[in-house]
Amino acid sequence: MALQINPSILSADFSRLADEAKAVEGADWLHVDVMDNHFVPNLTLGVPVVESLGRATETPLDCHLMIEDPDRWAPQYIEAGAGSVTFHVEAAAAPVRLAREIRAKGARASMALKPATPIEPYEDLLPELDMLLVMTVEPGFGGQAFLDIMLPKIRRTRQLIEKHGLELWLQVDGGVSADTIERCAEAGADVFVAGSAVYGAEDPAKAVRELRRLAEK
Ligand code: DX5
Ligand code: ZN
Repeated sequence: MALQINPSILSADFSRLADEAKAVEGADWLHVDVMDNHFVPNLTLGVPVVESLGRATETPLDCHLMIEDPDRWAPQYIEAGAGSVTFHVEAAAAPVRLAREIRAKGARASMALKPATPIEPYEDLLPELDMLLVMTVEPGFGGQAFLDIMLPKIRRTRQLIEKHGLELWLQVDGGVSADTIERCAEAGADVFVAGSAVYGAEDPAKAVRELRRLAEK
């Protein structure tokens, strides 16, 4: 599979979300960070905003749920138009049941791991997933420094994917920039979320192209 760049709307101007979404058309997915002030100490947006965003852009939506009780809320994000839904394993009551429900509703099922959550206990769950997200910062805020100490986990996850012969995408999120994306790609990531590196740039669409070029090197 070709490498994918997913700009994170978290670093965009929230008063101009439709324009900001259009500014990165050509990206593979638009990454939408949903935060509830409980699972993470920050609050962003919810179902109605996702619904509007979906109407404002042709780019499919990759919803990253940093919320408590994703088992209850994830289905609503699919109904709102998300093509991919990521829940945190630390918050899910029944990750297998939830992944199956997401797939049954027609979206890609994805599971996220915070930096201190190891991949090994979840090896047997991987066939239930379409994507695994290895967080490379503590979730909650854009603009944080990339955690190099996550590179071994990315490598080990890639090895597990290969060992089981899975078609699983491996996403990294947090501090991904022109300085760090090559390290992530080399470790085995193939889906790259970038917030400040895209929306902090003069020309967001050009920043997406540049990140893609570096990842493909
Ligand atoms: C952080 C979010 C990220 C965030 C990344 O909790 O999950 O998606 O937007 O922002 P940058 O790329 O600036 O680290
Ligand atoms: Zn995110």
